[in-house]
Amino acid sequence: MSYKLFIPGPIAVSDKTLRAMARPMIGHRSGDFISLYRSLQPGLQSLFGTRNGVFLSTSSAWGVMEGALRNVVRRKVLCCMNGAFSDKWLDVARRCGLEAHGLQAEWGQPVDPAALRAELAKGGYDAVTIIHNETSCGCMSDLPALAAVLREFPDVISIVDTVSSLSALPIEQDALGLDIVLAGSQKALALPPGMAVFSVSARALARAATAPARGYYFDLVEFQKNHEGGMTPSTPVIPLIYALQSKLEDIAAEGIEARFARHARLNRLVREWGFARGFKLFPQEGFGSVSLNCFANTRGIDLLALNTKLKARGFLIDGGYGKLKGKTFRISNMGDETEATMHELLAALDASLKEIGA
Ligand SMILES: Cc1ncc(COP(=O)(O)O)c(C=O)c1O
Repeated sequence: MSYKLFIPGPIAVSDKTLRAMARPMIGHRSGDFISLYRSLQPGLQSLFGTRNGVFLSTSSAWGVMEGALRNVVRRKVLCCMNGAFSDKWLDVARRCGLEAHGLQAEWGQPVDPAALRAELAKGGYDAVTIIHNETSCGCMSDLPALAAVLREFPDVISIVDTVSSLSALPIEQDALGLDIVLAGSQKALALPPGMAVFSVSARALARAATAPARGYYFDLVEFQKNHEGGMTPSTPVIPLIYALQSKLEDIAAEGIEARFARHARLNRLVREWGFARGFKLFPQEGFGSVSLNCFANTRGIDLLALNTKLKARGFLIDGGYGKLKGKTFRISNMGDETEATMHELLAALDASLKEIGA
């Protein structure tokens, strides 16, 4: 059965992107690869809002999320937690043998800048992890406000996950003074899974250079050194790099501002659809994600039955992540969607709700 994904990643991949992936292979140390790699930089830098190089990792986001910790934490990391992925980051830090402390907010509440300041002021920290857009509960924290707090603590290296927000709204890495910013391929970039993109500040690179156990595969210093030659440290996932090149062309053709505006419009469209049908947003008001909507299942809908009906119509949404399974449902508006495609989904949702008697 074939159906279109409106789960918050992986999301639907266009035929143009899939065709780009089918191009013949090239050697990753060849002039052709160097040209390909370098051609991506301006588009990626504008998505990150940075003049740093943007590195390509043949891994999903977690590879870079774990690798970044190994590179920059020497004393203790503070993990800001407000959902499944940010909670797990604390666990991952401890599994790496690092000293780590969690700044816990309820799932769906944003990371609180005042709480961040109070915890960092206690001292002892040299790194912080933050998830900008907690996909698990559709909550988007105020990154500029958090970055302003981080700038008060110049010894603290920030590691910021923009996994499900990069390319859906502006990220201003340099202006905000963020150190490591990362995202995955299968979210708003609408590529298949398997690659992460990330950018690292000079001071994070300097910290990494002093880390004795940073390993090899995610060694930030290796990434920088290879980047200067237009390459990646190890053999990269070349089909996904072709796909990224094709996507950056699409973004340039649409215009980056138009892309951000489209995500905001489609997000509102889905939100209003949900409100009109008696659902509330799960995250705190004012902090709903712009790339997905996570609705509280306030009407007690049988989400499994809903998705079965929806799948028969050629669509799939998400029925809640982890402890929110059955209690929330999430609809992505990331990637290449338009008013027309979102209306198709919403019409199918209405028909499916009716069919299950909801
Ligand atoms: C915000 C966020 N961070 C990290 C991850 C982990 O990404 P991956 O499983 O691709 O490594 C996800 C996956 O959904 C995510 O939404």
